Amino acid sequence: MLTLESSCDETAAAIIDSDLNVLSSIVATQEELHAKFGGVVPEIAARAHLERVLPVIDEALRQANVTLQDLCSIGVVTQPGLVGSLLVGFTAAKTLAMVLDLPLVSVNHIEAHIYACRMAAGREVFPAIGLVVSGGHTNLYDCRAPLDFELLGATTDDAAGEAFDKVASMLGLPYPGGPSIQKIAEGGNPKAYAFPRSFAHESRLEFSFSGLKTAVLYQIQGQPPHRRDPATVTPQVIADVAASFQEAVVDVLILKCRQALQQRGRKTLCVGGGVAANSRFRAELQKLAARERVEVLTPPLSLCTDNAAMAAIGWEALKLGRTITLDSDVVPGLVR
Ligand code: KG4
Ligand code: ZN
Repeated sequence: MLTLESSCDETAAAIIDSDLNVLSSIVATQEELHAKFGGVVPEIAARAHLERVLPVIDEALRQANVTLQDLCSIGVVTQPGLVGSLLVGFTAAKTLAMVLDLPLVSVNHIEAHIYACRMAAGREVFPAIGLVVSGGHTNLYDCRAPLDFELLGATTDDAAGEAFDKVASMLGLPYPGGPSIQKIAEGGNPKAYAFPRSFAHESRLEFSFSGLKTAVLYQIQGQPPHRRDPATVTPQVIADVAASFQEAVVDVLILKCRQALQQRGRKTLCVGGGVAANSRFRAELQKLAARERVEVLTPPLSLCTDNAAMAAIGWEALKLGRTITLDSDVVPGLVR
């Protein structure tokens, strides 16, 4: 199967065999195009996908040592994401499916992020609790089977990765914010500031990061009408704010994972998405695993951020005969 992913700002293609072996996985990132804007610019992303999609597919075929004629099916991310970005991958996939007369399956980007854990494990991992923490989503699922995910809760405002990106921008750190904050936080004190942990004392499996973002803003700029003297925002203050912010995000993510595991009686936790690359979060997940006697699966870094190998979940759809027709469309919003 050729899999394609173009939902946001990575153009990715992979070749996956029926035993879920990844024969090649190519990702062309657009980070440098969006860095100066501090976030993904949808129009720029769509144009860049257009330039990259065919070379990326060619490279995936070349590295897997297969030709278009060797393909048996095509899996493509059709939801959720930026509409212009999704359309580029989907149009490429439809065209190939039509010309080569191959079955086409639709892949949900969020489900694929969780499936990255199954790919990394190399064996069945469901049922499990699944957490997707990315730039666009912070979603908790009860994953009964590969294509049977029940949404337990999500963020009520910003996604965790979005909060990392916005706080990094406030602190004058480069985009993408997650890796920048992680790096600078190494030299900071995570207990320096007691930032809010939303819904910490509630059983609801939801998240909110906008209050935390505002608390960080007030810490570094002062709370209006009292402005903080910018000269007092030293590199050490920035490192302390970054470390305390990261700690607050990690705390609530861990807490809600623990609540979800307990509420659903699950023994496995699959964590995917860009924020799952965070080393502080990964360390706390390991502690959670030991404390709660559960198995915590996190993909290697290359499978955490957007890629097409995780779209191997398309094989599950194909095995169930869930193909889509050429008149189907992309679904930019998240369908619950
Ligand atoms: O899953 P992903 O590659 O794309 C989306 O589907 O959104 O996630 C990107 C997000 C960005 O917000 C980025 O800042 C965040 O993941 N991220 C991290 C780290 N690496 C990437 N956040 C925290 N720590 C990291 N090491
Ligand atoms: Zn993603």
